[in-house]
Amino acid sequence: MKKVLVLLAAAALLASPAFGAVRNSKHDLSSSSTATIKSTNIDEVCVFCHTPHSGATGLLAPLWNRSIPGGSIAAADLYNSATLDQTNSNPSTVVGAVNNSDAPLCMSCHDGASLTDPLLNPPASAGNVQPAGLSNVTGNANVFGDTLRNDHPIGMDYGAVQAADTAGFNAETTANVDVGGLPLYTANGVMWCSTCHDVHGQGGGDPFLNMSNAGSALCTTCHIK
Ligand code: HEC
Ligand code: HEC
Ligand code: HEC
Ligand code: HEC
Repeated sequence: MKKVLVLLAAAALLASPAFGAVRNSKHDLSSSSTATIKSTNIDEVCVFCHTPHSGATGLLAPLWNRSIPGGSIAAADLYNSATLDQTNSNPSTVVGAVNNSDAPLCMSCHDGASLTDPLLNPPASAGNVQPAGLSNVTGNANVFGDTLRNDHPIGMDYGAVQAADTAGFNAETTANVDVGGLPLYTANGVMWCSTCHDVHGQGGGDPFLNMSNAGSALCTTCHIK
């Protein structure tokens, strides 16, 4: 009986598609996706973001298949407020960190203008043609325009912010690596979009979040409130 159960479990594992989390999510733009926004001619999933060869250079991104819109994000376009008082959150000090984060990658679709841009390396499987049938998302919360001014700040060295305000923030769990399982990036432990989000939909929270935000659990992983 035990053996049968083990075999059944193994069969179930083999049967589940390896790309289950992206597949049919809103980040699946393949022609057979169940998402609303998708191409009409390319039935690959990863290709809308990644390419095995000839990807974008100069970005801290794995094998990126898209151009980056509008060059760089300017300091004036970053979040700022009278109460955002840590030097590590001041736009003039973090603009480089934001441009080297994953934000430009997300903005290559979420700026409301670049989703329809050509892929750097269109798939051979489709005859090296560019995606057809895509249209830019407009008029909803998924479109950020070309600024991040009214979006949660990113680009901060989380450990430095926390050290200056230990009553306001929980300490990093592993220095420069994570806070409560939320990943920090580069050698300094900087916050990116992917600190909160999992673009592949494997993080366990909606929408594409690294954890459920029920009871604001995501927010209170960092903020002591
Ligand atoms: C909508 C865009 C998008 C799609 C579609 C996508 N990815 Fe990604 N992927 C990203 C981004 C952005 C990152 C960088 C994540 C980060 O900032 O941590 C990434 C990172 C990765 C990484 C390295 C880091 C990690 O998470 O292991 C791998 C491997 C990867 N993707 C594989 C895939 C595969 C395989 C597919 C298709 C089944 C796929 N991705 C589909 C955007 C995408
Ligand atoms: C290849 C284009 C592309 C890239 C790159 C991309 N997205 Fe998206 N994303 C989309 C589309 C298309 C939607 C669906 C928009 C809609 O239906 O209004 C979406 C939706 C979302 C949603 C909302 C999901 C929901 O269930 O409502 C989140 C959150 C999101 N993306 C985060 C990110 C983050 C974070 C990154 C970068 C790490 C990223 N995306 C990169 C195309 C992209
Ligand atoms: C501090 C955590 C955090 C960071 C950092 C963050 N997000 Fe989000 N994001 C969220 C949460 C939480 C939601 C869900 C909001 C809701 O449903 O009310 C969300 C929602 C979204 C949505 C869906 C539209 C909406 O407003 O609900 C998109 C698209 C998105 N984020 C993209 C991004 C991009 C791109 C970045 C980086 C520039 C980013 N996020 C950085 C936490 C974050
Ligand atoms: C990974 C850690 C982390 C998570 C998760 C997180 N934050 Fe933050 N948040 C920060 C840091 C760091 C700052 C910058 C604080 C500073 O430098 O003053 C910040 C800034 C803010 C600010 C701006 C305060 C100001 O003075 O203008 C608000 C508001 C905020 N966060 C709310 C939220 C909410 C709501 C959530 C959940 C949706 C959330 N945060 C999730 C780390 C986080």
